[in-house]
Amino acid sequence: MTRVVLITGASSGLGAEIAREVARRGLASAMVLVARRGDRLDALAEELKASASSLEVLTVAADLAEPVACARVAAEALARFGGVDVLVNNAGLGLPTLFADAPPADLERQLAVNLQAPILLTRALVDSLIARRGTVINIGSAITCVANSALGVYGATKAGLAYWNDAIRRELAGDGVTVCLVEPGPIATDFSDAFRKLTPDGARPHPVVETPSGWMTADVGDVARRIVGLIERPRRRLSVLRRLVWPFRAVGALARAFPALGDWFVTRAFRVDRALGRAERLD
Ligand SMILES: NC(=O)c1ccc[n+]([C@@H]2O[C@H](COP(=O)([O-])OP(=O)(O)OC[C@H]3O[C@@H](n4cnc5c(N)ncnc54)[C@H](OP(=O)(O)O)[C@@H]3O)[C@@H](O)[C@H]2O)c1
Repeated sequence: MTRVVLITGASSGLGAEIAREVARRGLASAMVLVARRGDRLDALAEELKASASSLEVLTVAADLAEPVACARVAAEALARFGGVDVLVNNAGLGLPTLFADAPPADLERQLAVNLQAPILLTRALVDSLIARRGTVINIGSAITCVANSALGVYGATKAGLAYWNDAIRRELAGDGVTVCLVEPGPIATDFSDAFRKLTPDGARPHPVVETPSGWMTADVGDVARRIVGLIERPRRRLSVLRRLVWPFRAVGALARAFPALGDWFVTRAFRVDRALGRAERLD
């Protein structure tokens, strides 16, 4: 096995679990792990090498919100391993805030990490992916099914990612590159903790910010297993948990077919207290 797998956002949550699952299944000879917290990446690299002694791991501490970061990450990966076979664009963040209250810097950061970085990193690696008939896995979100208050910019980055994903899937198919979109519903990771921190004491939590009940929340290990399965059995789109994503899709389709009813229903179902938008910043 001589496959090189690059995973962004590998310092926690889903990205770290994807890396563990790739190592567990012996699907890579080398891995490139990317995120800002280099200490966590190094600890994960040690863990992976201990479980698979022949595995080589390169960690790259990088802030993907910075414009030059993607080119640097790609250059380091290519210099060390000569190419990349699987690129998992997983790094992402959500900063739920009513749009009129959102600090412009937060909007920029979400746009840069969630949308610009996957595009630029894939562009920087596309020649290698074509040469190796590789795979791109983009981590989107089920949030794109229904446009929500306080999550408009996060959802817009994921909707943009989905559009670009479908476009390059069609464009690169003739070059032998496989492109897959993953649409997760809620998963128990630091991601939702970060959402919760923004809810001020006493404020009514956003239904998406509030800890979703168990039946709605996917286990991060299960989601990682499904995602890693795409390396050997690719699919255009993977929805996890299906039982959650499909009802959301149905609501979204109804809202598009009957816009007035859609606005009335979604506005009430996902009402957000103004206080959420004024929450003191904690990150
Ligand atoms: N959890 C959910 O409910 C859920 C639902 C749908 C979709 N998703 C998507 O799943 C993906 C993974 O999220 P998760 O749940 O695993 O959340 P997480 O545990 O918070 O992980 C996010 C990862 O992104 C990295 N990251 C954030 N900002 C970065 C930056 N500026 N530069 C480089 N890396 C950065 C973080 O690393 P550092 O902080 O070390 O940089 C971390 O490794 C995201 O794209 C998210 O939108 C999650």
